[in-house]
Amino acid sequence: MTKILVTGATGQIGSELTLVLREKHGGENVVAAGHKKSPHPRLAETGPFVTLDVTDRAQLEKVVREYSITEIYHLAAILSASGEQNPGLAWRVNMEGLYNVLEVAREAGISRIFWPSSIAVFGPKTPKENTPQDTILSPTTMYGITKVAGELLCEYYHRRYGLDVRGLRFPGIISSETPPGGGTTDYAVEIFYAAVRGEPYTCFVRPDTVLPMMYMPDCLKATLLLMEADPRCLRYRIYNVTGLSFSAEELAKEIQKRVPGFRVEYKPDFRQAIADSWPRTIDDSAARADWGWKPDYDLPKMVEAMLKALRRRKERGEL
Ligand code: SER
Repeated sequence: MTKILVTGATGQIGSELTLVLREKHGGENVVAAGHKKSPHPRLAETGPFVTLDVTDRAQLEKVVREYSITEIYHLAAILSASGEQNPGLAWRVNMEGLYNVLEVAREAGISRIFWPSSIAVFGPKTPKENTPQDTILSPTTMYGITKVAGELLCEYYHRRYGLDVRGLRFPGIISSETPPGGGTTDYAVEIFYAAVRGEPYTCFVRPDTVLPMMYMPDCLKATLLLMEADPRCLRYRIYNVTGLSFSAEELAKEIQKRVPGFRVEYKPDFRQAIADSWPRTIDDSAARADWGWKPDYDLPKMVEAMLKALRRRKERGEL
């Protein structure tokens, strides 16, 4: 019987991934764990919810034991921009959290773990176009450092203890349900909220900033595909994946085609330097070859779907 624990379940990815996993495995078999005391009703009503701090190993052990957990999706983390504002917190949550998950998993005989890495593992010395799977990992942010160390730790636990840890180097994730918190790619989500609310948007990166991105349905599809893949097909533990790449200005123009009069101005802040240190496009051919990865959304299709989803939320009075 599969019993799943999702940490960071109230976050941008966790809030949607938990629901998809619950549909697949049954609500009672997917435990959502979050830092917040009161999660969104959708999370609380469709299955168990526990308050969990991943830096507290005893607490994590207790949840794993109590619910007889067999798989963990470990999503709890501090993102890149917040990490630059509080590097110590990013180190603690991202490193101690992952270490605790891996240790508890080893002891409890957990069969599989999913852990998201990020394009933040790359740095200024990494090739920016078509960034390969195997390349220079020399990030300049604390978040990136924790992701590189995390990848190495996952590989170590796999090699040394045979733990089946799998991960994806996610690009910026664009979604309409739960906003991201504290990332560098957040502008690509915030801009939609402003457009749908009928407000102008002040973008915190330059118009020519190009970053790799992915729409949430593709993010969920990639996660499930990787986790369902035959272990014999996996040449890597952690894979490059991408959906699409565009500049902030291209995104604004694509929205303006559908929201006439929408105004965007650009006031780059400290997050520009982070964005400039990351790749513009990603080579995800290893993921395509090994487990059949292929994204469904291009820029117009993603913009169309985002506006539709957020307009629906606005009609329901949620925005
Ligand atoms: N979206 C993340 C961030 O900007 C990248 O992993 O921090």
